[in-house]
Amino acid sequence: MRALILAGGKGTRLRPLTVYTPKPIVPLLNRPFLLYQIEILARAGIKDIVLSLSYQPDKIEDLLGDGSDYGINLRFVTEPNPLGTSGAYKFATDAIRETTIVLNGDILTNVDISEIMTFHNEKRSEATIVLAPVEDPSAYGLVETKKNGKVLRFLEKPKPDDLAGQSVKTINAGIYVLEPDILDLIPKNENSSFEYDIFPEILKQSMRFNGFILNRNYWRDLGNPESYLKAHLDFLDGKVKGFENSVKANADVATAAVVDECSIIGEGSIVKPNARIIRSVLGPGVHVEEKALIENSVIWSHSRISSFAEIRNSILGRSCHIGKNVIVNDGAVLGDKTSLPDYSRA
Ligand code: GDD
Ligand code: MG
Repeated sequence: MRALILAGGKGTRLRPLTVYTPKPIVPLLNRPFLLYQIEILARAGIKDIVLSLSYQPDKIEDLLGDGSDYGINLRFVTEPNPLGTSGAYKFATDAIRETTIVLNGDILTNVDISEIMTFHNEKRSEATIVLAPVEDPSAYGLVETKKNGKVLRFLEKPKPDDLAGQSVKTINAGIYVLEPDILDLIPKNENSSFEYDIFPEILKQSMRFNGFILNRNYWRDLGNPESYLKAHLDFLDGKVKGFENSVKANADVATAAVVDECSIIGEGSIVKPNARIIRSVLGPGVHVEEKALIENSVIWSHSRISSFAEIRNSILGRSCHIGKNVIVNDGAVLGDKTSLPDYSRA
């Protein structure tokens, strides 16, 4: 069994954060996001991992190397042009033809992958899809299953009309286990999508297609800034169990500064007296001057927050410069190197 992580999207909804940083390596609690997926795969004994890329592949390869730092064999496959989710799967695994676990590269979950594999094997499925319950399925792929798990319907990005009067709330969580027969449904070197083309085809051909429902696990798509910030806050609130995040960083925090229990301060950061850091994550090398306030926010590396500035419920990219007395408020997302002069309101 090997894994394929689909990481070739452009991350447009996460802009401006993804302008210089490809989505798979956007930091989550100061670690490249992909390492969380690698961690759950490695824990289930899956050491052969292929990363399917098409956008800024060099930056990702440079950072993750051959995977030996993480105890896995990592291989990169870059499409000449984006082939879509199933096209990318075909491109990367056609020559290997073995059972493969496929993950969307932007989902955070602490599910035990071995439970999904057991479910797949017990059902003798040709395709298993992991499902998550959500309040509003419209931004996802809606999946209807029978009580015994058999998939009955797959509808990508359902419209209000499709959702009216029906109670199904389980959506495609972006994790599949696929037998090589599925490859035969996918055209070679053509753009195609699991969601719009291949899942409907699997249903049409009545292949063995079952849904594994997540219930007690954490699951979130990190595809937009609100969700990205929420994932951080969930971690800080202790809602995402099972990952090792307690790397102690060397930071210079003044005794007269207030840093609450849950906040994370990156390596080499400096927090001056009477600054307050509440429920936030600071990347490496961040400078927070006296009496600045950072609350419910994520600040990427090497940004500087000047005195009396206040940042709430916001995300700041790398190397931003926030002047004195600036107020950055709810939902602001500042791209790398943003500079806000003293007294600005954003
Ligand atoms: N290699 C490659 N090539 N990867 C791609 C391509 C491509 O052409 N297009 C998209 N991807 C990758 C993205 O990088 C991402 O990791 C994953 O495929 C899914 O694409 P998104 O753009 O994030 O899709 P979405 O979030 O709108 O919807 C998908 O995920 C939902 C769950 O988060 C669908 O699979 C939905 O059905 C699902 O509910
Ligand atoms: Mg997504």
